[in-house]
Amino acid sequence: MSGKYGKLQQQFLCCYPVYKMAWSSVKLPLNWEDQQELIAATCGHPMNRRYPVRRSYLEAFLKQLIHLLRDQEDVHDDIYSSLCGPVADNIASTGPSMYAYKHYLLEPGAHITLRESTSCVAEGTTGLCTWEAALALGDYFLQHRDLVRGKNIVELGAGAGLLGILLKLPALQLHVGQVLLTDGSEPCVQLMRDNISLNFPDTPKEQMPKAVQLSWDAVSKFPWESHAETDLLMASDVIYDDSQFDALLGAMDYLYTRRGSGLETLLANTVRNVDTLHKFMTQLGDNGYKVTPCANVSACASHFCRDHTAAVQIISIRR
Ligand SMILES: C[S@@+](CC[C@H](N)C(=O)[O-])C[C@H]1O[C@@H](n2cnc3c(N)ncnc32)[C@H](O)[C@@H]1O
Repeated sequence: MSGKYGKLQQQFLCCYPVYKMAWSSVKLPLNWEDQQELIAATCGHPMNRRYPVRRSYLEAFLKQLIHLLRDQEDVHDDIYSSLCGPVADNIASTGPSMYAYKHYLLEPGAHITLRESTSCVAEGTTGLCTWEAALALGDYFLQHRDLVRGKNIVELGAGAGLLGILLKLPALQLHVGQVLLTDGSEPCVQLMRDNISLNFPDTPKEQMPKAVQLSWDAVSKFPWESHAETDLLMASDVIYDDSQFDALLGAMDYLYTRRGSGLETLLANTVRNVDTLHKFMTQLGDNGYKVTPCANVSACASHFCRDHTAAVQIISIRR
């Protein structure tokens, strides 16, 4: 994330919306070397060469760049070859893929690469891509490291696995205990396992997060005795379908009954429908939970490129 184009690089690699990118860091006219540097920092970045972002995103990015350089006589060959060169050909030859990569550069030496679905809803689930609420909760953990230090953590509805990978990433040194990522969708669990392998190539298995299939209505049947006692439960963007509230509250009830008052839940909710959220909050109160709102991490302190299109609310839940 260093250099003149560090911000654009961070944004490009995680597919931040092109029209919101830090284009003001591109000082026109852009000489030959600067064009080369910009392309090397983005499309030509080694991470993108190995695990490319989705083709439609690459095209939108380059289109915007070419538009920006429209009054210049010289446009560097690297810009065109990024559209038609070996990396681009490699993506194009496989046709429009259901999956592509995103790279989240967090701080120097710490990044997460995730394979994610190119559409928000695929294979019957919304969990094959990472949602804004997960980024917000990730930011929250990075700003409140004591909250997770030494804790055994379970995630419900973990989707593509970002949070668990973040918590165990050796470069971040968060020193968390065991991390168990769960999701009811089989394709999500498979994707999480792929993403775990991708991000922990040299880590002993017992120090990686673990991903298992778990539906909220089957939590009592899960072999919890083979896992460390849960200290922290986390979930992001799981409050959107009120037909699932009873199952989720049932799962929480089971886990709080096992663990008692030692258990805390951190829940990050994207505020899409105020009534749905309000309904869940009421049910939490009715079930004897105490909810404390947590302060969101400000945009300038964020480790992620977040587009803040929807507000995210983070709450701590105790009983
Ligand atoms: C909107 S996605 C959020 C994924 C991830 N937490 C994130 O924020 O990027 C909701 C996730 O909850 C999972 N989910 C929904 N209902 C579930 C249930 N009854 N049991 C287990 N997982 C469920 C879905 O499979 C999906 O992965």
